[in-house]
Amino acid sequence: MRASSVSAPGAVGGAAAWIGAGRMKAAIKASRIVSLFMAIPPDSHWVAYAFAQGYLKSREKIGERMTGPAPYEIEPGEGDPRRVAPHVARNAEPIAAVLADILPARGLVLELASGSGEHCLHFARVFPKLLFQPSDPEPAALRSIEAWRQGAGLFNLLPPVALDARAADWEIAEADAILCINMIHVSPWPATAGLMRGAGKLLAPGAPLYLYGAYRRTGVETAPSNEAFDENLRARDPDWGLRQLDDVVAEAERHGLVLDKVVPMPANNLSVIFRKA
Ligand SMILES: C[S@@+](CC[C@H](N)C(=O)[O-])C[C@H]1O[C@@H](n2cnc3c(N)ncnc32)[C@H](O)[C@@H]1O
Repeated sequence: MRASSVSAPGAVGGAAAWIGAGRMKAAIKASRIVSLFMAIPPDSHWVAYAFAQGYLKSREKIGERMTGPAPYEIEPGEGDPRRVAPHVARNAEPIAAVLADILPARGLVLELASGSGEHCLHFARVFPKLLFQPSDPEPAALRSIEAWRQGAGLFNLLPPVALDARAADWEIAEADAILCINMIHVSPWPATAGLMRGAGKLLAPGAPLYLYGAYRRTGVETAPSNEAFDENLRARDPDWGLRQLDDVVAEAERHGLVLDKVVPMPANNLSVIFRKA
């Protein structure tokens, strides 16, 4: 988090105003956990290991309960708000490998459209020096993210915030990087326009906006699996569907975001990285 994120009348008051009283409490709790971690010798880091094991075991149990063709997201069971998006197990590591090259060493990473919350959880484990802020507009998604977060005990993963990319003002005022995975084709176009407007406002010059998903590209034949995916999305909602990458780039440029690179990913997906000019 940049120092400028915390303003007068004082560090604590400023931080409370910036992140909200509820999250301030969580931040204080987190700082105590960090202190605890700093005080214990490295060979006692089995505590973090035990947390990770608990998380993995709970995922396995949820997996056992899956039946029939895998839907996009699975509600794991009555009374358990944690959703499981099966693709996260396949793409979280390849995405993290790309993020390792573009994320700053320290700071706040805002994720939009966090969905189940599993990506953010994974990234918080992989990048312990960064603070992760998940978000989503959907109440069930927020419950899922929070349930995963509580079970993981990660000090660098903040409670989720309700955030609709289309909102004129986002609740988060500043971020050192923004991630948005699989939202652009699974939401109406105004969500993409809002994402670019918000990212253009929040990010400082040079800071990255990372997108992941399937796109159409000028001069490149769309893979049959992506054509079928597009048809499926449009059948679910005529305002959803694969976007032309050129249109996304043009929208980003309107808000001062410049295309940095495009990285091909498994299963005909792309990582698309913009930087604030
Ligand atoms: C296909 S899911 C992707 C979830 C997660 N990123 C993943 O890859 O598993 C699309 C997500 O976009 C969110 N979404 C849809 N419209 C949005 C908007 N206007 N602003 C922010 N998020 C939105 C949905 O609530 C949903 O969680």
